[in-house]
Amino acid sequence: MKVCWLRFCWLLLILCCKENRPIPEPGPNEVLLRMHSVGICGSDVHYWQHGRIGDFVVKDPLVLGHEASGTVIKVGSGVTHLQPGDRVAIEPGVPREIDEFCKLGRYNLSPTIFFCATPPDDGNLCRYYKHSASFCYKLPDNVTFEEGALVEPLSVGIHACRRAGVTLGSKVFVSGAGPIGLVNVLVAKMMGAAVVVVTDLSASRLQKAKEIGADFTIQVKNETPQEVASKVESLLGCMPEITVECTGVQACIQAGIYATRSGGTLVLVGLGPEMVTVPIVNAAVREVDIKGIFRYCNTWPMAIALLASKRINVKPLVTHRFPLEKALEAFETTKRGEGIKVMLKCDPTDHNP
Ligand SMILES: NC(=O)c1ccc[n+]([C@@H]2O[C@H](COP(=O)([O-])OP(=O)(O)OC[C@H]3O[C@@H](n4cnc5c(N)ncnc54)[C@H](O)[C@@H]3O)[C@@H](O)[C@H]2O)c1
Ligand SMILES: *[C@@H]1O[C@H](CO)[C@@H](O)[C@H](O)[C@H]1NC(C)=O
Repeated sequence: MKVCWLRFCWLLLILCCKENRPIPEPGPNEVLLRMHSVGICGSDVHYWQHGRIGDFVVKDPLVLGHEASGTVIKVGSGVTHLQPGDRVAIEPGVPREIDEFCKLGRYNLSPTIFFCATPPDDGNLCRYYKHSASFCYKLPDNVTFEEGALVEPLSVGIHACRRAGVTLGSKVFVSGAGPIGLVNVLVAKMMGAAVVVVTDLSASRLQKAKEIGADFTIQVKNETPQEVASKVESLLGCMPEITVECTGVQACIQAGIYATRSGGTLVLVGLGPEMVTVPIVNAAVREVDIKGIFRYCNTWPMAIALLASKRINVKPLVTHRFPLEKALEAFETTKRGEGIKVMLKCDPTDHNP
């Protein structure tokens, strides 16, 4: 218990911005950034509250934040594609070695990958931060810093919908309307889904889902998973060939299996308890493919292109903004489940989106 309390204090200390660290010096192939906007993710709140996620345990003080954008202020040797003044979105996962996963283009699976705000790697919720230049992507003038920061959650949606095989005319069931469920709604529609139906417990989150393009919503109360599945079917007029599960809740994974059409795909984006009971024989005999999702890979350039072309609008996801000094208040807002995306503004001279 004592150890947990200490961990909590460390995180709190950093959250309160009481800790000053030296401005880092960019090494070869790195850039130093003045941070602008950093979104808070459920995992940041989880590390703050519990000091661990699965096998990742906070043992030393940890800087949180991994949904971020900023401005290049200094470049290290060998950096040619960026220069001071460039506005960039940061991809938080940087592989440390060219292992078999990297060679396959699936670098998110590399076990030694650096990842912002996953212990022991520090995140970028701070004023100055250095990062691999190859994982900083230039933002065009017509893409805001906040949109740049939102490329991170958007990437989870792109990766999930790619693995699900969403295509022209797909009928898609998105389970959960938190930030991750919502980006999946956006991406599924963009990839050509004909109809998207979303479930959640929260009426306000479902309202937001409608606002951003969901065709149907279902407010779940105390239905059984089978009942949820048949509501999905009756709204769509048929069973969806794709389900994107974004809650991690056991009952929702069960509903996801029952709801998916035979031969279809269920992707598990939500991460909940380590062990869950699911109707696996139902999935097996109906050839419902169950796929996992771990973050993303190869998504930043296309996400930025879509934002620049105005083909996708992530702006409605931002519901709260706080200056970095009020990080604690910001984290408490996310913890209470208020709104959708809380943004921290790290540049005291520019609080614009
Ligand atoms: N696989 C990955 O790489 C990856 C990446 C990012 C997030 N995640 C996971 O995705 C999940 C969603 O993230 P988020 O930030 O949107 O979280 P969130 O907690 O904001 O959203 C979850 C939503 O699920 C809803 N919900 C809970 N129980 C429900 C039920 N019985 N029926 C319907 N809806 C229900 C909640 O009301 C909430 O709106 C989390 O489990 C997170 O850990 C996974
Ligand atoms: C946004 O900027 C990019 C790059 O400068 C440009 O190609 C694109 O046409 C612009 N989009 C809109 C909608 O103005």
